[in-house]
Amino acid sequence: MTDKTPYDPLKVDAYAGHLAKVNRVKSVIATEDICNEQGAILIPKGQPISVEATEKIVRFKLIRPLHDTVAIEDELNDASLYTVLMDAIKKTPDLLSMHNQFNLDPIIRMQCHCFNQFAVLRQKLTVLSIQLPKTFANALTSSWLCSLIGFRMKLSDDDLNALFLAALTHDFGMLHIDPEILNKKGDLTPEEWRQIHAHVVIGQKILEEIEGLPKATARAVLEHHERCDGTGYPTQRDGSKLGLLGQIIAMTDSVIAIYTNRFLKENRSIREIIPILQVNNEAHFYKTYETIVLILRQSDLPPSKPISDDDAPVLIDRFSKEGNAMNLRLTIAEKVMAELENDEKNRKLTALHNVHRLIMNVVNGAGILSDSYTRWLDQVKKEQLSFAYQETEDAMQMLKELQFHMKRLTRMLHLYAKNNCKDKNTQALIIGSLKKLSQVDASLMKQPALTE
Ligand SMILES: [Fe+2]
Repeated sequence: MTDKTPYDPLKVDAYAGHLAKVNRVKSVIATEDICNEQGAILIPKGQPISVEATEKIVRFKLIRPLHDTVAIEDELNDASLYTVLMDAIKKTPDLLSMHNQFNLDPIIRMQCHCFNQFAVLRQKLTVLSIQLPKTFANALTSSWLCSLIGFRMKLSDDDLNALFLAALTHDFGMLHIDPEILNKKGDLTPEEWRQIHAHVVIGQKILEEIEGLPKATARAVLEHHERCDGTGYPTQRDGSKLGLLGQIIAMTDSVIAIYTNRFLKENRSIREIIPILQVNNEAHFYKTYETIVLILRQSDLPPSKPISDDDAPVLIDRFSKEGNAMNLRLTIAEKVMAELENDEKNRKLTALHNVHRLIMNVVNGAGILSDSYTRWLDQVKKEQLSFAYQETEDAMQMLKELQFHMKRLTRMLHLYAKNNCKDKNTQALIIGSLKKLSQVDASLMKQPALTE
């Protein structure tokens, strides 16, 4: 968050509106007189936090933060948090199987007990559960998976607690951002993106004021969108300056997003996420990657539905077509990246080179785009080598992840040319390359290419 709109816990923001909406389903009352900074009473003690009441206080500065002066009836506590968390895990057989196999239950119960000590966390998590249910669902799965990873990494009890609390609260900042921006359909403006990105700083500021909460929790929340290659936010710090807990949350957020948005819909096992993790093995510390891959490999999860002789040629043909397009993109990207100097003092340039290096490391390391791999796939198809079908599917997952990173590189090049590149020739080279990349996309997707 920049100085333009610094978060101020005393200033009434979107959180008041959320409380008023919660008040429609659970009573929310003022536990003391709510006063403006001059001491005038705006909402007397005992009054409900209704829509009318919040309209009176909007944009005022208060003497105390709103969350310290209200109480919600029947808010989440250790027992109810454990119940909703386990309900979420039980909905997905893969996660329940891992929960039981790795004996995670005592850890989760201990963490829920730890959560219960903090009134502000109980209140805000209750508001999140009612007002932003998708974010709440993500917080539950994230805190569960973080606990599993932290437990298997043999973190201390203090770090395990700090990690669980950070995973549970990592998007609390969203409660303080204008819901019109959060719910906006279509493209966000740069200013709207800036406000959304601010949720990490808002979350950190809320948490660092809570007495007794581990300091590592606030730091992990601040860093949960950073990446070790320096392409995250808010500070774009590289791995040498990032803490472990924030990176565990960052990785679990990616894993959960891929699993819930893609794999569950395709009826695929979470274990099949390993090839995607391999592409990203340095994104959030190698140690974190190693632990989750080991957990998945050791898991008793049943194998996914085998690929049939009928499906395999379709898969191989698709892989060949998309692989060829990726090779074209790589050639274009390599040419433009060779012209961009690698100036370590320039964060934007460093981030561009880091993403390009990641792509090339995967391409060279996995060999899935080489001529010999293409010949191998031809053989698999022709001779119906069913033992190689799963490997082909893994290669497809890796290719999809490479496509994601290539899009990321393209977006970063576009922003660099637009906002940071001072040299006209370099700028023209980047713009020319972006046009060529868009033509490759268009030929693959059969969509019209960008003409300018
Ligand atoms: Fe976030």
